[in-house]
Amino acid sequence: MTTKPQIVDQQAHETFCAFARSMGLNPDDLWVGRYVDYEWDHSRHVFEHACDSLAGQYALEFGCNYGATAIVLATLGVTVTAIDINEQYVKLAKLNAARYGLSEKITFLHVTDTTQLPFEPAQFHLVSCNSVLEYVPADILQKVQREIDRVLAKNGLIFIAGTSNRIWPKEVHSGKWWVNYLSPGLDNLLFAGQNLERGVFPWQILHGFGDYQNADLNSGGKAYLAAKTSMGIARNRLQILRAANRVLSLFGVTVGLVTPSISVTLRKV
Ligand SMILES: C[S@@+](CC[C@H](N)C(=O)[O-])C[C@H]1O[C@@H](n2cnc3c(N)ncnc32)[C@H](O)[C@@H]1O
Repeated sequence: MTTKPQIVDQQAHETFCAFARSMGLNPDDLWVGRYVDYEWDHSRHVFEHACDSLAGQYALEFGCNYGATAIVLATLGVTVTAIDINEQYVKLAKLNAARYGLSEKITFLHVTDTTQLPFEPAQFHLVSCNSVLEYVPADILQKVQREIDRVLAKNGLIFIAGTSNRIWPKEVHSGKWWVNYLSPGLDNLLFAGQNLERGVFPWQILHGFGDYQNADLNSGGKAYLAAKTSMGIARNRLQILRAANRVLSLFGVTVGLVTPSISVTLRKV
């Protein structure tokens, strides 16, 4: 059994904390210094329940932020390339990997334009898009999805998780009601030019990458539910998800496509 990533390099840890503070971040915050622990307890279970074997696979962590999911994948034996459009985040992510002793296992890259990825066609077996697609500007989202498709090998998997679902009346990240149902074109008129966050529609996720199958359907939603169980979600929530899965699977839909945060695994045909 793989053991949880541990901070093994104290000097690198101190450099990470100092750099985080210089960015105005609190290194002790869950979404900074403890983000790896969070993803170990969450996204790890999705990867483990979807794949028989992760060791030796090549993965792209798209939108790596401070490196949390990249570090989890590397701990599972995956060779990871992790990219982000934010140069400071990539620097912090590198320092994060160093404190876990995983610098050799992850290549971090700052990529300014993710509609053109600096990779060969079919270079990766896996792509992780963890809480990122909703941040990609809507007018380039499909171009970015097609570019991800270009670099993924046939039969490869795309893991989508934590993506704000635009079918819900409340946008999960901002907590704003109804904004998901309004066109961004109205922001200037209704919200004094604020650039408001919106989710992504499930059909954009299902069809935007190209020719993909919803891999969660193969297990009748059981892999998704098993991952949720491993994450330790409350029993009553699990029961609701199970009941929803039973009904939705009659229509060929998986439950992770209709929850407020989209979670689905796609397989390239
Ligand atoms: C919530 S964080 C992702 C967390 C990360 N995937 C993880 O699991 O540890 C969202 C990230 O998306 C990045 N991002 C936003 N727009 C992007 C784009 N067009 N291409 C790639 N990354 C982008 C942001 O810079 C930010 O770091």
